[in-house]
Amino acid sequence: MILSASGLVKTFPGVRALDGASLSLAAGSVHALLGENGAGKSTLVKILTGVYRPDGGTIELDGKPVHFTGPLDALRAGIGVVHQERNLVTEFSVAENIVLHHLPRRFGVVRRSRVRDEARRCLDLLDLDLDPDAPVSTLSVAQAQLVEIAKALSVDNRVLLLDEPTASLTGDEADRLYAIVRKLTGSGHAVVLVSHKLEEVFAVADTVTVLRDGRSVAEGQPLSAYTRDEVVDLMVGRAHAAVSLAARTPLSSDAAALSLTDVATSYGHADVSFDVAPGEIYGLYGLVGAGRTELAKALLGLGSVTAGTVSVHGTPVRISGVGEALRRHRIGYVTENRKEEGLFLEQPITRNIGVTVWHRLTRLGLIRDRAEASLVDDYRQRLGIRLATPKQLAGQLSGGNQQKVSLAKWLAADCGILIVDEPTVGIDVRTKAAFHELIAGLAGQGMAILLISSDLPEIVTLADRIGVMAGFRLRGELPNDGDYERMSQSIIRLIHTPLIPAAPH
Ligand SMILES: Nc1ncnc2c1ncn2[C@@H]1O[C@H](COP(=O)(O)OP(=O)(O)OP(=O)(O)O)[C@@H](O)[C@H]1O
Ligand SMILES: [Mg+2]
Repeated sequence: MILSASGLVKTFPGVRALDGASLSLAAGSVHALLGENGAGKSTLVKILTGVYRPDGGTIELDGKPVHFTGPLDALRAGIGVVHQERNLVTEFSVAENIVLHHLPRRFGVVRRSRVRDEARRCLDLLDLDLDPDAPVSTLSVAQAQLVEIAKALSVDNRVLLLDEPTASLTGDEADRLYAIVRKLTGSGHAVVLVSHKLEEVFAVADTVTVLRDGRSVAEGQPLSAYTRDEVVDLMVGRAHAAVSLAARTPLSSDAAALSLTDVATSYGHADVSFDVAPGEIYGLYGLVGAGRTELAKALLGLGSVTAGTVSVHGTPVRISGVGEALRRHRIGYVTENRKEEGLFLEQPITRNIGVTVWHRLTRLGLIRDRAEASLVDDYRQRLGIRLATPKQLAGQLSGGNQQKVSLAKWLAADCGILIVDEPTVGIDVRTKAAFHELIAGLAGQGMAILLISSDLPEIVTLADRIGVMAGFRLRGELPNDGDYERMSQSIIRLIHTPLIPAAPH
């Protein structure tokens, strides 16, 4: 074994995140580390990379015990990592971030041209067309994720730990990453992959450890020994029930809830037209950088609509921000970027969920604790939020549980129109199914939903119609027939069709 850990224990106030977890990693293998939200995966990754010190247990590298004193210590030992949450220095450029830990120097002086060349090499590995000099603050969530991966690949580490590396990536980008992963393991490297995308896991991993409540329940077995359902049962701890969505017919209505006509934006969109009816789920699909998030932002006034019309229930509107969207138009917006825009990480869970419905929770200007607590309890049950107490700070939740809190806040808000951007990123399979049921239920009650997602199975599961965006334009719209294979082929074809058909010879 190149790396092995056993009996790891880690306690946070009120939570035992790891309770005797073990993991063994062989050279040349891709090892899947699976478990439900809050099972302890990221905590284990952080211990193996020197971010946290364990309260108990041992770690061995090449059969020798090691005690990492910090992240750089683990890096020096040849262990690279892509953490679940982004860790880039936003004021620095893409290139500076990529080579941060091994700046090319000569006589102590950083050599700018070498920094750029080295960064270009890493970006090229991922086929990533980004300006190395661009400040990281200008990147989208997905681009930042790709830069983190490029950074991890910039050093030739023997062990690479990837915690949800493809959470906000589409299939194309994920495929590119996994091609590199295969090349690495082919030359004797070892990779640990944490992911809730089980299709990907089954396609690339060969061995598996499943964590449940901080303990390893399957350890190092070949993945081929299990079916997908068996893996889910192991994560959940019992036989899980499959969820199938009830059939839903969009309400017929004279006025669309949300409609766009020939919209152009400050981000560079042109000629975007589509509408979402009450009771309809409209899926917006596209590759990273297609302009879907920017379109939502422009609609909500975080960028601007420069031409064309946006109407809400038939009335042309110009919205100046997320707060106004909710108050005046009953439009909710689940942002893709939960860490920076979606949550108050330093505030308790109660405040985070209650923020959209304060008017319901206050009496004589005071927040009623009981009302707040019962609201949290409702969503804790519905979405399976794993928390120590409702007063726990949102920033202390596991990644998936933070995402659930940012969803709960908008689901509670009683909107007429809900724009959700990558709603199930990092959410475990069981909760994902529960969330899909909730969304379908809300549509069934007449809510109009604009679903932006890079998760094609999710779009095909939920959407009534699918708009395909590429290069800041809507390339086409497809009715969803629910057949995944057929839909994905039609969508890919639309993405790759040139905008202006070539003239016949
Ligand atoms: N810094 C912290 N302070 C307090 N509690 C924490 C902290 N980090 C993690 N926890 C708790 O430890 C438990 C395990 O969290 P961890 O992040 O390891 O889960 P995970 O398996 O990575 O989940 P996810 O799939 O949601 O990313 C959770 O209950 C979480 O709330
Ligand atoms: Mg995690």
